[in-house]
Amino acid sequence: MILSKDAGVATITLNRPDKLNALNRQLLDELGQIVDDVKTDDDVRCVIITGSGAKAFAAGADIAELHQQTHETGTDFALHGQRVFTAIERLGKPVIAAVNGFALGGGCELALACHLRFASSKAKLGLPEITLGILPGYGGTQRLPRLVGTAKAIEIILRADMIEAQTALQLGLVNVVVEPEQLLPSVSEFAAMVAARPVHSVNAVLQTVLGGADTSLDEGLALEARAFGKLCGTNDFSEGTLAFLEKRPAVFTGS
Ligand code: COA
Repeated sequence: MILSKDAGVATITLNRPDKLNALNRQLLDELGQIVDDVKTDDDVRCVIITGSGAKAFAAGADIAELHQQTHETGTDFALHGQRVFTAIERLGKPVIAAVNGFALGGGCELALACHLRFASSKAKLGLPEITLGILPGYGGTQRLPRLVGTAKAIEIILRADMIEAQTALQLGLVNVVVEPEQLLPSVSEFAAMVAARPVHSVNAVLQTVLGGADTSLDEGLALEARAFGKLCGTNDFSEGTLAFLEKRPAVFTGS
C-alpha cells in the first residue's frame, strides 16, 4: 500500500500488482489503517484510491484466502471487509475511486464504497462471486442496488459479466470515463477542486446525502435543515456570502 499526500489530497495506491491488487488480509488491514490515518489528518480534504500497475484497480478478494473459509469463518471474513469499506464510506471526506483497470468482486465493492468513481476507458467492473459459489460479501449486494436499482443489480450479480467502462457509465455505476492517461490528471483536478471548497460544507454534504439515503424523506429533510443551520454559524459561510456581496473571490479558512 502506498500513501502520498499533496496539497490537501491523499492518494492511496493498492500495491500488489503481481496479483492484480487482489485484496488479501494484509492489504485490507493496511487499507483500514490508512483510512484511519487520513480520517484524522485535518490537512487531508479529499482522498483518491487507485491500483498500481496498468492492469487492475483490484481483481477482488484474494481467492487463495477465500478458499480457506468455512461456514464458521465466512461471516467474519465478510464482516472484516465490510468494516473497512464502510469506514471509507464514512470517512467524512470525499473519496474518489480512480478505476484504472479490473475492478472485480471485492475490488468493485471497494469502488462502490467510494463516493465517486472515475474510470479509465479500459476499466472493467463486475461482481463475479457467484461463479465461485458465493455472493458479493463486502457490501456489493447492498451498495450496487442503491446505485443502479434492484433489478439491474440482481441481473449484474447473476450474469457475473465484466462490464465495460462505457456501459458502467450508462448504468450510473461510474461517474466519469476518460482515456487511461487522463485518469489520474482528471481525478486529481476534481480532488483539488473539492479540497478548495469550505470543509464544513463538504463534510455536511456527505453526511446529509449518505445519511438521508437510508431514511424517510421527512427525516432526511430534517437532517438537511439541521446541517444548513449549523453551516450558517461558520466563518466560511460569513466569508462566502460577504465575498459575493463585495464582488470578490472568497477566502475560506475551514472555520
Ligand atoms: N485472488 C488471488 N489472485 C488473483 C486474483 C484474485 N482475486 N485475481 C488475479 N489473481 C492473480 C492470478 O492468480 C495470477 O497470479 P499468478 O501470476 O501467481 O498465477 C495473477 O494475479 C495475474 O492474474 P491472471 O489471471 O494471470 O491475469 P489475466 O490477465 O489472465 O486475467 C482476470 C485477469 C482479472 C480476468 C483474472 O485474474 C480473474 O478472473 N481474477 C479473479 C477475478 C475474481 O473472480 N474476483 C472475485 C473474487 S471475490
